[in-house]
Amino acid sequence: MTPPLLLVNARQVLTLAAASAKNGPRRGPDLRELGIIENGAVLCIGGKIVSVGTTKDALRDPWLKKNRKKVTEIDCGGKVILPGFVDSHTHPVFVSPRLVDFEKRIEGASYEQIAAAGGGIRSSLEAVRSAAKATLTDKIIAAFRDMAAHGTTTVEAKSGYGLTLESELKSLEAIRDAGSRWPGTVIPTLLGAHVVPKEFQGCSQKYVEIVCTEMIPQAARRKLAQFVDVFCDKGAFTAEEAQQIFEAARAHGLNVRAHMGQLSETLLAPFQRFDPASFDHMDHLNESDIPMLAKSDTVATFVPGANYFLGMKTYPDARRLIDSGVAVALATDYNPGTSPTLSMPMAMSLACTHMKMSPAETIAAATINGAWALRLADRKGSIEAGKDADLAVFDTEDYREIPYWFGANHCTLTAMNGIVEMPR
Ligand code: NIG
Ligand code: FE
Repeated sequence: MTPPLLLVNARQVLTLAAASAKNGPRRGPDLRELGIIENGAVLCIGGKIVSVGTTKDALRDPWLKKNRKKVTEIDCGGKVILPGFVDSHTHPVFVSPRLVDFEKRIEGASYEQIAAAGGGIRSSLEAVRSAAKATLTDKIIAAFRDMAAHGTTTVEAKSGYGLTLESELKSLEAIRDAGSRWPGTVIPTLLGAHVVPKEFQGCSQKYVEIVCTEMIPQAARRKLAQFVDVFCDKGAFTAEEAQQIFEAARAHGLNVRAHMGQLSETLLAPFQRFDPASFDHMDHLNESDIPMLAKSDTVATFVPGANYFLGMKTYPDARRLIDSGVAVALATDYNPGTSPTLSMPMAMSLACTHMKMSPAETIAAATINGAWALRLADRKGSIEAGKDADLAVFDTEDYREIPYWFGANHCTLTAMNGIVEMPR
């Protein structure tokens, strides 16, 4: 049993508690409502939040008065407490960084040119296929620990660098094994449809069949994945193939999400019948899809680390989407090709400077709306009694400093399901 935990004297506690009775992801002006308590405290028992309020009120609690000695008490004087980040889009199952692609891009080649020449995703496959599962597990745990050190307490983790039945299941097992050795929460996603591997080039339908009739059924039966993702774009899978894959996913009881609009536009309306949890990237989007998205609980997840790392001049039009009422989230897209960062504060900083999201909007997008993007908002993403004790403490006086001090890590503590880790 995790010992009770009391954090006191925080200059700001960002509760992210809903300002209105509306249930659902935060939209429009609600995305700026952080529910801030000054000189705040949070009490957690048994891995759950039991109360949040001012330090003065917390210390008057009769249970606390009686049990104070049993409680781990941490003085957060002058610091900011917020819900642990929910990083709803990561690809942590890879062996090596892609340094040659990095250099080629610096010399002027584009992501698509590098991929067409055999670099990109396909160049990460061999190492994952031949790796021992324990090697992958160790890599993933190292990433999870580093994420926690930056304030992330829930991670969505995709397979997608094996692209054979065996190596995709091995990748999902490695995610499961890493998750069982890390106190945070891990949501596994099958991304068997990341790219068509070269053995199937020119006959992608054969590969899609393997995804639909082998990978999805086995991942579902063995409870190795909660979501199925597809990279739906030019050079990857067509809208028709993506729908075929979504069909199979839903038939096997798995929820769906997709990489959409990273390189080119795909019409989203035909996908709504699958109730996708999230469309990620969203650099390209047809105007006609905006009202539909605004009415749905499908979250548009931005991953500006990818735009930054690919040296792009353009970023998704976050303002247009937020101001139209679309629910948006932010994630790192941690991966070796387009976004080798696991820092949510870095993603937030890029969203402020390049996408004109306000610091408050980036906090909500990285916490409560990330939780909605993973269909976990009943447990994660805000500091409210009854939710999981997932917290991050930043050594800053004001929450706006979290995206402001870009490239530096000011996280000093995370609690994951009530278990405390102090990166520094
Ligand atoms: O989200 N776009 C597809 N997947 C990743 C890139 C993966 C890679 O290049 O290794 C992304 O950007
Ligand atoms: Fe991705």
